[in-house]
Amino acid sequence: MALLPIIELPDPRLRLVSQPVASIDAEIRRLMDDMLETMYDAPGIGLAAIQVAVAKRVAVIDVAREGDAPTPLCLANPEIVWASDECAAYQEGCLSIPEYYEDVERPERVRVRYLDRDGKMQELEADGLLATCLQHEIDHLNGVLFIDHISRLKRERVIKKFAKSARLRSEA
Ligand code: NI
Repeated sequence: MALLPIIELPDPRLRLVSQPVASIDAEIRRLMDDMLETMYDAPGIGLAAIQVAVAKRVAVIDVAREGDAPTPLCLANPEIVWASDECAAYQEGCLSIPEYYEDVERPERVRVRYLDRDGKMQELEADGLLATCLQHEIDHLNGVLFIDHISRLKRERVIKKFAKSARLRSEA
């Protein structure tokens, strides 16, 4: 397994729409394993392939609390097949927008269909943090970031801040 570099705002690749995976082969399984290792190392609770610059519809998630047994979830081609009308707000963050957190309102419960690490079709109904995380990662596969769900003023402020630090880094 290997740690993969995580791309950050304002990298334009974060806005790409990722391509479906044709089948779960050794290459995709390796990508999933490397993504899990990268996510745990960060540490984070979710990671989409585009965040490691791979434009494929693959995401990994683990919302287990620190100290509890890990519950890794590998998803290929995940799709929301149902979402509740009721919404809930959670404070979200993103490994591609480090150290920035903001409340985001999303459907409280979702049902997601996906291919697992063995290529088997699965359906999962989730609420709470897992529901939020699934929606956040599926957004990534469509080039959408959690800051797209906050006010325009806050979004422009955070984009400006990250663009400025990227500029300072490139000048250094
Ligand atoms: Ni994210």
